[in-house]
Amino acid sequence: MVFIGHHYSIHMIFYRLQRLLFLLLPTGLHSFSTNNLHCIGIRSHRSALLHSFIPSSSFHHYHRLSLHCFSSASASTTMSASTQSYATLSKSLMDDIVDATEPTSERAIDILSALSKEQQQPITIEILESTKLGKVLVKVVKTCKRHKRTSSTTDNQWDEAISTAEKLLVEYKAAADAEAKAASKKKVKSNVAAAQKPGLPSSTSAYKTRLVTQKKEMYKDPPALPPAHITIESKLVKEPKKRNKTTGELTFVAGENKDIAKVLKDFHPNRTPEEVLRAGSFGGTYFRPISSAVTNVHYNPTAVLKDTVQSSWIDGLNKSTMLSSTKYNTSINKYKVKCGGSLGMWESSGWIADSDPTDGSNGTVASTLEDVVPTMHDRYHAGARVLD
Ligand SMILES: *[C@@H]1O[C@H](CO)[C@@H](O)[C@H](O)[C@H]1NC(C)=O
Ligand SMILES: *[C@@H]1O[C@H](CO)[C@@H](O)[C@H](O)[C@H]1NC(C)=O
Ligand SMILES: *[C@@H]1O[C@H](CO)[C@@H](O)[C@H](O)[C@H]1NC(C)=O
Ligand SMILES: *[C@@H]1O[C@H](CO)[C@@H](O)[C@H](O)[C@H]1NC(C)=O
Repeated sequence: MVFIGHHYSIHMIFYRLQRLLFLLLPTGLHSFSTNNLHCIGIRSHRSALLHSFIPSSSFHHYHRLSLHCFSSASASTTMSASTQSYATLSKSLMDDIVDATEPTSERAIDILSALSKEQQQPITIEILESTKLGKVLVKVVKTCKRHKRTSSTTDNQWDEAISTAEKLLVEYKAAADAEAKAASKKKVKSNVAAAQKPGLPSSTSAYKTRLVTQKKEMYKDPPALPPAHITIESKLVKEPKKRNKTTGELTFVAGENKDIAKVLKDFHPNRTPEEVLRAGSFGGTYFRPISSAVTNVHYNPTAVLKDTVQSSWIDGLNKSTMLSSTKYNTSINKYKVKCGGSLGMWESSGWIADSDPTDGSNGTVASTLEDVVPTMHDRYHAGARVLD
């Protein structure tokens, strides 16, 4: 999953809250260009998030890459027996009645009654679509009406042909409607079932049902599915000792692993998770209770804090006002502003991934800088870490 490499990087800092600082390096990350990650300070003017790292290139397409698996269900080249006989009769109606110069009502009735008998193999939407029977019958009715007006008195059964064709049309329409209704009912049912099960949403509509059920803001509708699952490796890099005096940027030291060194070269956040938390990020709400639409799991503050945050980071902080408040308080924010989008915004935009750290914890992870904010949440929310 190389293409989600930079999610990891962001992830590294915030997600890995429980290990002092952080770097978790996923296998394969080395082959992903980390040039997309830059540290910037702009946000610090406006938010307690302080400077963060943002992936400058479009992350949006990354998750798309893996998500769309096209079903290879190829159109069957051989028609089933029942479809075949409907198709044959449909063709006879065209050839012998609609396109014929001198069709007879007798022939029309023959074919139409064969069609009526065919209904022992019930008509389906699929058959109607592949045989165009509906359209053909409409043409048959028109043709029969025209010939009724002009025919000789010896051919006087057009009325019977017309009524048989019209009856078939009514029946076909009813069957198609019933089938469509049943299919949509089934879909709703399976979406609701899927929306209630923990785990990743199985489809866009299941995800939407979940977001709606959780009363999340639907920033994107239909929502974008979460990015590909992320597995976090537990390789950590030590807490950075070097800090640029001017910019505050941190520099991590990789040790012997060259792959890690390559990643770290461009990774210079200027705030640690502890600093972010102590600055009143998220108006004190980062560790509030949440339900994650990504994992469909409810996360509670105590468990998530215990799981993801080193106690020294939050020593002395009032948990209820600084960490797990359910309401954003701008006075808590160092810069006295409200910033950040809602959890639903992050989720419906497809910016929150679930993650599977190898140390056994679990959670979801944000995929952009912006989510760093949400991500912390999520991680935390995820009982294991959902930085939303
Ligand atoms: C600190 O950052 C500034 C701005 O990027 C840079 O010019 C300077 O060389 C850095 N200082 C050190 C010691 O790396
Ligand atoms: C946290 O702050 C609230 C509101 O100011 C206060 O009621 C509560 O006692 C504080 N908790 C602690 C442990 O100081
Ligand atoms: C917001 O936080 C400030 C500073 O801690 C506090 O005085 C104020 O009561 C809080 N407001 C609300 C609505 O909780
Ligand atoms: C993962 O999260 C689920 C849901 O919160 C929880 O039941 C489970 O114990 C967690 N697993 C670990 C290893 O933390």
